[in-house]
Amino acid sequence: MARVGLIGARAEVALVVVDDPEDGGRLAVVHVRGRARLLEVVEPGHAEAIAGLRAKYPQYRRMAIDTRPVIEVADLTATSWRGDAGRAVDAPFPRPGDLAALVRGRRSVRAFQDRPVPRAVVEQAIAAAGWAPSPHGRQPWRFAVIEAPARRAALAEAMAATWRAQLELDGQDAAVVQTRLDKSRERLRTAPVLIVPCLYLADLDAYPDPDRQAAETTMAIQSLGAAVQNLLLTVYAAGLDAGWMCAPLFCPGIVRDALSVDATLVPHALIAVGYAAKDPIRRSRYSLDELIVSWE
Ligand SMILES: Cc1cc2nc3c(=O)[nH]c(=O)nc-3n(C[C@H](O)[C@H](O)[C@H](O)COP(=O)(O)O)c2cc1C
Repeated sequence: MARVGLIGARAEVALVVVDDPEDGGRLAVVHVRGRARLLEVVEPGHAEAIAGLRAKYPQYRRMAIDTRPVIEVADLTATSWRGDAGRAVDAPFPRPGDLAALVRGRRSVRAFQDRPVPRAVVEQAIAAAGWAPSPHGRQPWRFAVIEAPARRAALAEAMAATWRAQLELDGQDAAVVQTRLDKSRERLRTAPVLIVPCLYLADLDAYPDPDRQAAETTMAIQSLGAAVQNLLLTVYAAGLDAGWMCAPLFCPGIVRDALSVDATLVPHALIAVGYAAKDPIRRSRYSLDELIVSWE
């Protein structure tokens, strides 16, 4: 009961399920997080919760659980891992959960294990990106994939020169510039796969006035964002993680040349994909009240 009392003070709860097979099979861990609250007997939903528990667990039908509060857990996210018994678990496997759990569970990951990414996951993620909504259905995006370490290093070098110049322009001191460049190089060097979403405007409508033309481009960029979110969620659902980097936006020509992609493509981001090296930072979000500014 003492632990139940703590729910009032701190709503975050977690459940860890460990399957450690005695026959030396693979260890599996599921870590579920959520926000709990006590649903009192008089509150709406209590009777339904009791009925649900009794339907699922026959032993509750004989117990007077209807006079007790129920712990309601919402906002669930789950992370699961599998590894070899006797070793640290290191391998996430496909995440269970519905769309809402996947949307909430996905987080930006910036450090990855040195572990190859299955090609099928990359293909699946790019195919999902292709299902994004787009202006006039023109699908104004294409994707470059970089796996070879030498290509990743070349891209990092190519972008570093521009970034150095930009940081110096901002008046950053030399040591800070060097540290930031080293970190960025390291991030690109250690990301097992980089996906570069590129804007492709050639199929869009052409207008005689600049305002409508600018709106057309904005729509394409909005659509690129939707495509990237499909990609990120698909990677996450497959048990891997990804991190969005905006660097190509500041030197699209350099990235295009480094990747030898067509001149009609404008690189807009770098998406690093891999197996997370550690649990990422989980930033909170605005509440629904803050998000909805008007509802009449
Ligand atoms: C357009 C865009 C550009 C971003 N660029 C970077 C970036 O250059 N470096 C980085 O570490 N994260 C970048 N992010 C990731 C955000 O920092 C991250 O989404 C945000 O802090 C929320 O965290 P979460 O994704 O873990 O929920 C970018 C995200 C977006 C949408």
